[in-house]
Amino acid sequence: MDFDAIILGAGGAGLMAAATAGQAGARVLVIDHAEKAGKKILISGGGRCNFTNMGTGPANFLSENPHFAKSALSRYTQWDFLDLVGRHRIAWHEKTLGQLFCDGSARQIVAMLLDECAKGGVEVRLGTSIGEIGHSDGLFRVAGATAPALVVATGGPSIPKMGATGVAYDIARRFGLNVVTPRPALVPFTLGESEILFRQLSGVACPVVVRVGNVSFEEAALFTHKGLSGPAILQISSYWRPGDEISLNVLPRAAEHFRDARSRMPRAHLKAALTEVLPSRLADALAEKIGLATELGNLSNAALDQAAEVLTNLVFHPTGTEGYAKAEVTAGGIDTDELSSKTMEAKKVPGLYAIGEAVDVTGWLGGYNFQWAWSSGVAAGQAIAARRAS
Ligand code: FDA
Repeated sequence: MDFDAIILGAGGAGLMAAATAGQAGARVLVIDHAEKAGKKILISGGGRCNFTNMGTGPANFLSENPHFAKSALSRYTQWDFLDLVGRHRIAWHEKTLGQLFCDGSARQIVAMLLDECAKGGVEVRLGTSIGEIGHSDGLFRVAGATAPALVVATGGPSIPKMGATGVAYDIARRFGLNVVTPRPALVPFTLGESEILFRQLSGVACPVVVRVGNVSFEEAALFTHKGLSGPAILQISSYWRPGDEISLNVLPRAAEHFRDARSRMPRAHLKAALTEVLPSRLADALAEKIGLATELGNLSNAALDQAAEVLTNLVFHPTGTEGYAKAEVTAGGIDTDELSSKTMEAKKVPGLYAIGEAVDVTGWLGGYNFQWAWSSGVAAGQAIAARRAS
């Protein structure tokens, strides 16, 4: 037996698990086919890595089992990660909505994780294919190495251009574990020809409340040449299923605003009232859509309320999403029913663990996905150290 654990994937979750287990005395090997560790960390947050969110809690995650993430998130919290960042003297700031970013570069987070791995004597083999996984007599064999524990930390297939693959699901199925159908999440929507009016708005951004069913987010939306993007849209995309319509409220107090505009400038047209509060191209397009070609002073309360209704409930029928090529994460993944929420170990395959994005736990936009990588990584790392000690 060469190692106490082999970890597949040198991303946030894998490195965190490796450092935790290594520092507790376990002999750990990390294998990754990429030439660099933590590639998604390096490109995250526009190169500054939104490494956690101060408001992280189980409600910020999607999963078939919304309770699954609770244990790991509560045992290694955003404050624990912030402590680690502080010990490495990495300067950070809160951008908005509790989202914490490096002041300098995401490279500092990768360097910190590799340093923590080095402290634990972890061996990291990059540019290494996983190949066939052998399993007999309680031992796993991968790429010429042997260990009694194997951790699947290979993430999901979002952004295949960067080397992301769905190998976690192949491994899970090979060991008889169920996989919740993966789908692109935190991803822009595409719109069809019938909604072409909004193609002319490509590049326009504005704050909205976006809704699918009874889920809503209040952030910015961006019209693109293909459809809709921006933080609000990425957030709601994780809850969207093909066929669902989405509703955008671009001016929550539209009715009050119109009445106020009518008393301030009765000779003006609705477009002038819209231009006061919306980007001018959006105001133009919406004035055209509402089509009230008369002075505000001539409009009844009922007419103004009807116009307001258009702004507060702009309905779109996405034809789809921009897919894994543009998705920040993959929702779905290894079924949490197959895993212990305390240790991340597969219930029916002792020694097999799954962590991070490979698992059916998906965070909102805003640092939550990395927090899940850290928390689930620490849970598995501690369990590996404990199984070695026993
Ligand atoms: P991750 O994907 O990071 O690591 C998996 C590792 O496995 C990779 O190193 C990969 O090379 C390796 N691997 C995959 N297939 C393999 C194979 N077949 N053989 C060998 N190795 C293999 N989240 C957040 O909280 N804040 C943010 O700012 C951002 N920003 C962001 C930007 C962009 C552009 C993307 C695409 C994603 C984000 N995210 C994010 C999401 C975040 O990056 C993601 O959830 C975590 O990186 C997941 O960590 P994991 O370690 O689980 O997988």
